[in-house]
Amino acid sequence: SDIYRAGISGARPVVPADPGRLEAAARKALSAEAFAYVAGGAGAERTVAANRAAFDRWQVWPRPLRDVSARDLSTSFLGVHRPHPLLLAPLGVMELVHRDADLAIARAAASLGLPHVLSNQASFPMEEIRDAAPGAARMFQLYWSSSDDLNASLLRRAEASGCEAIVVTVDTHLLGWRTRDLDLAYLPFTRGLGIAQYTSDPVFQQLVRERASAAGPAESVRITPKAIAAGVSIARKGAALTGAGLRDSLRSPLPRAAVETFLDVFSTPALTWDDLARAREWTTLPIIVKGIVHPDDAVRAVDAGADGVWISNHGGRQIDASVPTLAVLPDIADRIAGRVPIVFDSGVRGGADAFIALALGATMVALGRPYAFGLAVAGEAGVAAVVRNVLAELDITLGLAGITAVADVGRGGLRAV
Ligand code: FNR
Repeated sequence: SDIYRAGISGARPVVPADPGRLEAAARKALSAEAFAYVAGGAGAERTVAANRAAFDRWQVWPRPLRDVSARDLSTSFLGVHRPHPLLLAPLGVMELVHRDADLAIARAAASLGLPHVLSNQASFPMEEIRDAAPGAARMFQLYWSSSDDLNASLLRRAEASGCEAIVVTVDTHLLGWRTRDLDLAYLPFTRGLGIAQYTSDPVFQQLVRERASAAGPAESVRITPKAIAAGVSIARKGAALTGAGLRDSLRSPLPRAAVETFLDVFSTPALTWDDLARAREWTTLPIIVKGIVHPDDAVRAVDAGADGVWISNHGGRQIDASVPTLAVLPDIADRIAGRVPIVFDSGVRGGADAFIALALGATMVALGRPYAFGLAVAGEAGVAAVVRNVLAELDITLGLAGITAVADVGRGGLRAV
């Protein structure tokens, strides 16, 4: 009702409430390359469309005449009581969208009490993100590196930065076939974007030094931890400005060594279920496995000791014509039968979508692109406004469905089409 009151009093909304208009506003605010990176999906983008279409198979029953004047959106997740069943999915390379990137996102999340999952490809080191919003709920998302030492180091830092869980993303052992990025010849990572988590890491710095000294003793002299971070940031300014300036900006051997080291360690297609078990040796934090779509994999993750399962097809960015996530949510929820919490994402655009996901068994619902669009339009305030809109619509939908608490949302609230 605050949002409606603000509208009546003539205050201009910070971001459009309609998801389509929000995306259009972000497109206007961003360079063609940045918008393509955020909005794009794999191949012909059939998964992006299927993620949305899967929501059309469910309808919410209106249930009037049940006192819903007091409504409770709170929920419990990983043993902690949370004000809302939403969280912010990890998004890499947000420096393409806004200069404050993850710092702005962390502050917005903190202001609303939502957990923010810091991306392995964030634009700021996790320690700086923590300092931007100390005390906020946060988790760290790991892309499993080919270097175990680097994995262990990143998880150590995550623990020290106050992260309450580790999210291991397992659907990106190969980068998807990103047609929009390919056609613009713009792959952010190869320009040294989104690698701040690495350049700030002592194990990574050592790997860069080794590579640079193999290239010749003259280069290795200049390679200090500070120089690695500074060199990459100079290189990426060039790349960001020109779009096509990759070769020029990476001519310096210093960022070249850093970017090439990144490309080597980023992830490994050899990763298996057996490897995953090793994460336990590196951290005592709860481990959530993100990127699960097949129900057998969901059960296997739980059997392997995962503390949570995150159903996601990466917002349709990995496989074209993938199975949409909402289609498998009921089956996975049945198979897991409450043993661990379920996080759900891919295609959620509004509060009614969140309601449907909760009704079909999600414990927490994650947002991806919508809050990146909010960041593009209005920075920190834009992220907060997008989340507030989703929460407001969820709250209204709950009440109109005759339900007073998120905990009571169930399949009886829906009709299958
Ligand atoms: C992502 N996603 C992602 N996932 C992850 O585990 N680590 C990452 O660094 C990123 N980076 C990233 C960047 C951008 C621009 C997008 C759009 C997505 C996937 C993300 O966490 C989430 O699974 C999807 O965004 C959810 O789908 P929707 O809400 O975007 O449809």
